[in-house]
Amino acid sequence: MSKTPAPPQVLDMCAAPGSKTFQLLEMLHQGSSHGQAPQGIVVANDADGQRCNLLTHQTKRMCSPCLMITNHSGEMFPRMLDPAAGPADANADAAAGEEAAGEEEGVGDGEGEEGAAAAGAGGGRRRRAKPARLLFDRILADVPCSGDGTMRKSPDIWNRWGVAAGNGLHMMQLKIALQGARLLKVGGRMVYSTCTFNPIEDEAVVADLLVRCGGALRLVDVDAQLPQLKRMPGLKTWKVRDRFQWYESWDDAAVVGNKLSPTMFPSPEKAALPLERCMRFLPHHNDTGGFFVAVIEKVAPIDALPDPDHSFRLRPMSGIAKVEEGAEAGAAAELRAAAAAAAEYALRGSAGGRRVAPIVIGGRVKHGRAQPSHFQNR
Ligand SMILES: C[S@@+](CC[C@H](N)C(=O)[O-])C[C@H]1O[C@@H](n2cnc3c(N)ncnc32)[C@H](O)[C@@H]1O
Repeated sequence: MSKTPAPPQVLDMCAAPGSKTFQLLEMLHQGSSHGQAPQGIVVANDADGQRCNLLTHQTKRMCSPCLMITNHSGEMFPRMLDPAAGPADANADAAAGEEAAGEEEGVGDGEGEEGAAAAGAGGGRRRRAKPARLLFDRILADVPCSGDGTMRKSPDIWNRWGVAAGNGLHMMQLKIALQGARLLKVGGRMVYSTCTFNPIEDEAVVADLLVRCGGALRLVDVDAQLPQLKRMPGLKTWKVRDRFQWYESWDDAAVVGNKLSPTMFPSPEKAALPLERCMRFLPHHNDTGGFFVAVIEKVAPIDALPDPDHSFRLRPMSGIAKVEEGAEAGAAAELRAAAAAAAEYALRGSAGGRRVAPIVIGGRVKHGRAQPSHFQNR
C-alpha cells in the first residue's frame, strides 16, 4: 500500500494472524520520531475470536497506540462514527448514500431507521443530520480462501483441495470485498488478495465487484511498480465447475448447476474490464508462496449495491423432488410441482434481478407426505 498524504486510516478486514497488519503498522510509524505516535490508525479485524488473540500477540511487539483490533465478520463490518470528521467532510455525502444502501440490504446499524422515524414523527420536519462515519484511505481484504498457493509449505492441501471449497467461499469473499468498497473513501484504495489461483475466488470476485459497483471502482495498473517482482496478468475468462461438470457460462449452469451462482461466471461485460491488471504471483516466479493481488481504487461514491445473494443456487432438476420408492402418488406429484414452480420462479427472479419470496428447491416424500426442504430465502 502506498503512502497517503494525510494521516492514513487503514482497515485490515481479515487480519489474523497479523503478518500484514504488522507491516501496515510499520509503514504507519515510518517517519515519526522515537516516542512520537503517528496520527493514523490501523483497524485490524478478524471474524475468528481465537485468531484475534493471535493477532494481538503478533502485533503487540510494535507497542503501537495506533492499533485497534476488532472481532466482526468482514461482510458486516460496522460503519463506525468518525469524531474527527465534520459535516463538511468531502466524503460525508458518499457515506450517507452508501449507508442508506447498506441499510436497505440489512447491513446498516439501525441509525437510519431512527432518523427516518424522527422525520416521520415531525411531519415535514427536516431529517436529522447523520453523524459522519469513519471511512478508510486504505483497506486490505486478504480474504479466507482455498489456499492452493500455500502448497509449498502445506503439501497436504494437494490431497484436500477441491472446487467445492472455492465455490463455497466465493460469496463470502464477494461480500467482504463489497463491504470494503462501501467503507472506502473516494480516492482510497483497497487491495483484494488471496493465496489461491482459483479464478472463482480471484478474478470472478474482482470482476463481479467492479460490475456491481457500476464504474465507482477501477482496477489500478501497478505494472510499473516493483518490476523485479515477476507476475502473470489476471485472467479474462475461466470455466466454472461443480461436483459434476464444467460450465462455460451461467446460461449453461442456471438450471443444472449444483450450488453455483451467476457471480462466479465470466461474461462479455466482465471481459471488457482490465482484469489483466490483477496480478498472479506463481510460487516459482519469486520462490515464494502463490498469491493473487488486485489493487482497486474508489473513484466515485457508490449509490446502491444490490445484494449478490439475489443470485440463485439451483439444484439439478433431477435432485429436486427426489421421491422415495413406493411414495404416495399424490404427495410425490405435490413435491414435484412445488420444485418445478420454484425453479421457474427462481429463473424469473434471476432474469429480473429482483428479490423473490422464499421458495422450495428440494425435498422428499416421507411417510407418504411431501416434505419440502432446502428453502431459498430470497
Ligand atoms: C488468509 S487469512 C488472513 C491472513 C492475514 N492477512 C495475514 O497476513 O496474517 C484469512 C483470515 O480471515 C479470517 N476470516 C474468515 N472468515 C472471515 C470473515 N467472514 N470476515 C473476516 N475475517 C474472516 C480467518 O479467521 C483468517 O484469519
